[in-house]
Amino acid sequence: MKRTTSLFLSAVAATSSFTRLTTAQKLAFAHVVVGDTAAHTQSTWENDIKLAHAAGLDAFALNGGFPDSNVPKQIANAFAACESLANGFKLFVAFDYLGGGQPWPASEVVSILQNYSSSDCYLHYSNRPFVSTFEGTGNIDDWAPGGAVRGAVDVYFVPDWTSLGPTGIGAHLDNIDGFFSWDMWPNGASDMTADHDLAWVNAIGSEKTYMMGVSPWFFHSASGGTDWVWRGDDLWADRWNQVMTVDPQFVQVVTWNDWGEASYIGPFVTDNEVPSGSSVYVDNMPHESFRDFLPYYIATFKGDKFDISRDQMQYWYRLAPAAGGSECGVLGNNPDQGQTVVDVNSVVQDKVFFSALLTSPATVQVQIGNNPAVSYDGVAGINHWNQDFNGQTGVVKFSVVRNGATVKSNTGAEITASTSLANGCTNYNTWVGSF
Ligand SMILES: *[C@@H]1O[C@H](CO)[C@@H](O)[C@H](O)[C@H]1NC(C)=O
Repeated sequence: MKRTTSLFLSAVAATSSFTRLTTAQKLAFAHVVVGDTAAHTQSTWENDIKLAHAAGLDAFALNGGFPDSNVPKQIANAFAACESLANGFKLFVAFDYLGGGQPWPASEVVSILQNYSSSDCYLHYSNRPFVSTFEGTGNIDDWAPGGAVRGAVDVYFVPDWTSLGPTGIGAHLDNIDGFFSWDMWPNGASDMTADHDLAWVNAIGSEKTYMMGVSPWFFHSASGGTDWVWRGDDLWADRWNQVMTVDPQFVQVVTWNDWGEASYIGPFVTDNEVPSGSSVYVDNMPHESFRDFLPYYIATFKGDKFDISRDQMQYWYRLAPAAGGSECGVLGNNPDQGQTVVDVNSVVQDKVFFSALLTSPATVQVQIGNNPAVSYDGVAGINHWNQDFNGQTGVVKFSVVRNGATVKSNTGAEITASTSLANGCTNYNTWVGSF
């Protein structure tokens, strides 16, 4: 069923590319939480940039709050790393108005932009330095034409002012060049749709560009305050499919390194960069395999031809049924954002989620422990499915079989009947693997 949907969506994307009025370049970014890079050196940044570049990403959105002494220091390290690699990868700043306890003063925004916007590594779009935000709706006037920021630096401005809602942005269209919606996870026990994206696209009109958020997962686990889950599950595959329908100018993968919210796709560096309380849920739970299909997804989003030269799979799942541990206060949805709380164990599904990128039709098999393998008919191109745990436990084996012979196969982490965490809590984070 998912397969049919994806073929339909690619047909829609192909048609709409002929009717696009703009020929401006489409770009894909990843969101870096600069506050979680305290242990980074220039060489750590070089490694991040090389991996992001290899995945087909164009730039990092460097998101930082104010005041935070790590932010200026790590932005400097990131630019030094990028300039020394000179591989075409770019950086831009996303001013986080909620992340540092204080909104960004316009003078600080201006000094950072004046300092870095002339770097070969700073992303320019329509010949202007590209700038974004996380919220900041109390400071909208700074970004008015001739205002405290724009009067000093002529930026290409694509803020996330999602809290305004699509009806609220209309009054501020003169202040923006594009819009970024943070609404990229579903509400409660449901799957994400593109409805909110289409509402934003409609609200900003065809003169403005749209930046669409794509996230693989969400489990906020930092200690102190509300801990909550939004449904990940099929999201990584579903959301990329929605990108092909919405056809935005920019995509931002959220995130590269948000350990405290389990949305990361970048490499783990050290527990010192993980917010306190989150390490127990992040350690030994790699997400780097989420990047494996990015070259395909990004090329497809841009309308570029992608040559599938080998059979690949990526697969992700929690390592025990949700009821196999204590909820430990974790909520489904976030009441602090006005959402209705639902049972967290109704939000997450006890399933193995898996995608295959195939050179030609093949059978994909999934086997949990010693239970019988289940077969799925794969088509050439992208495929996505899920399979219930059904009480089964053990190491999970994934195979691509063609003409009766196993072409490729690998095993993923073991599923156990109950949580393996020493604190007895359910880990709502996912393990991710690939071949
Ligand atoms: C300006 O850039 C230099 C590195 O080139 C950095 O050391 C300094 O902190 C930056 N200043 C501001 C205000 O960002």
